[in-house]
Amino acid sequence: MRIVKVFKSSKAFNFECDSIAPDKSISHRCAMFSLLSDKTSTIDNFLLAEDTLASLSIAKQLGAKVKIDKSHIEINPPKELIEPNNILDCGNAGTGMRLYSGLLAGFDGLFILTGDKYLRERPMGRVIKPLRDIGARIDGREDGQLAPIVIRGGKLKPFRYKSLVASAQVKSALILAGLKAYSKSYYREDRLSRDHTERMLNGMGANINLLDNGWLEIKPLKKPLNPLNIRVPADPSSGFFFAVASAITPNSSIILKDVTLNPTRVEAYRVLKEMGADIEFIEKENLYEPIGDISIRYNGELKGVTVSRNIAWLIDELPALAIAMAVAKGESIVKNAKELRVKESDRISSVLDGLNRCGIKTIERDDGYDIIGGELKSARVNSYGDHRVAMSFAIAGIKSSMEIEDVACIDTSFPNFFEILSEITEVK
Ligand code: S3P
Repeated sequence: MRIVKVFKSSKAFNFECDSIAPDKSISHRCAMFSLLSDKTSTIDNFLLAEDTLASLSIAKQLGAKVKIDKSHIEINPPKELIEPNNILDCGNAGTGMRLYSGLLAGFDGLFILTGDKYLRERPMGRVIKPLRDIGARIDGREDGQLAPIVIRGGKLKPFRYKSLVASAQVKSALILAGLKAYSKSYYREDRLSRDHTERMLNGMGANINLLDNGWLEIKPLKKPLNPLNIRVPADPSSGFFFAVASAITPNSSIILKDVTLNPTRVEAYRVLKEMGADIEFIEKENLYEPIGDISIRYNGELKGVTVSRNIAWLIDELPALAIAMAVAKGESIVKNAKELRVKESDRISSVLDGLNRCGIKTIERDDGYDIIGGELKSARVNSYGDHRVAMSFAIAGIKSSMEIEDVACIDTSFPNFFEILSEITEVK
């Protein structure tokens, strides 16, 4: 087990960072969606991390020819997807497993998706059940609740499906299935979840439209899509660890360069601003999504905040936000965030366990928690194999030295995380 020690530092830092990991959600989608074209997709700044490389390997097993030159990749799709002669390993990635389930359900062949020990315990019924309802032959352990998932792809029926969870992974799986159904399908979610799938597929020529009545209309594909030609922006969820570092270190500032500013992805920055940090968004271009820089500046002690809405838009940043809440003045409350329980770890219990070890008082609830701001004490914390928990406590180490157990998981999303952190403080 890899253990890292991050040392306390009160030294101010001010820098521009252009090496935040490329966006994970978009990189996964690049690997998968390129299979829906008949021409070569060109992707710059693809995330070379375990999760997204797993999606790329699966694309290869399905017949794509992939050229990799550092983070520039070209994906030449096969004429017809190949039935792979082995299982498809999604690693730690829920996005990989759920989106590939929807995509492969509509293609002829037998496909078996599996993942690491964490992914094999995460709920898959949320995609398997609606896919079964539209005629997919798909199964998993515990009657389709858990991976490995076995798919015998084929014809799919059009659907009208109202989702029970605000999940971009469920929405994307159903959109991908809808592209292969024999007529128009409709999908509805109560709150918009991240919309990279709709933006990217429409950019490739698909027809997915949000109607005035709130339903998303998905027209089936009549011909292969145009290839992707994209530079993946930096990942705001990865950048957020350094946003918190800057917001809690006196006289510090950081500019995160070329990040996606998609509104469904930057809500945590809005909350950090509400807590008192000085934050500015500088939009520079629009390539499938708005892209630009985010400047975060220390602006005095943070104050407690209540987070209860737009949860799907900041669910991935709640662990890092918990560190900001732990050092803020007063109490912070997180509600309506039960989804945290089924992420890479049960993030309500793993984050609160870490905070409690650091001497922070918390109250655990089924769908969230209260954090009573105070002084972080040095501690040894467990990541529970969850990359975002590991990185959050590494940032806490800037305030009070931390030992973090089991940090290898960081390689699933942000392999150069410690390199950037070393510019701020000592890491061993
Ligand atoms: C993701 C969607 C979110 C998010 C995950 C990535 C995606 O999950 O937490 O890290 O790329 O679609 P849910 O769809 O389960 O909310």
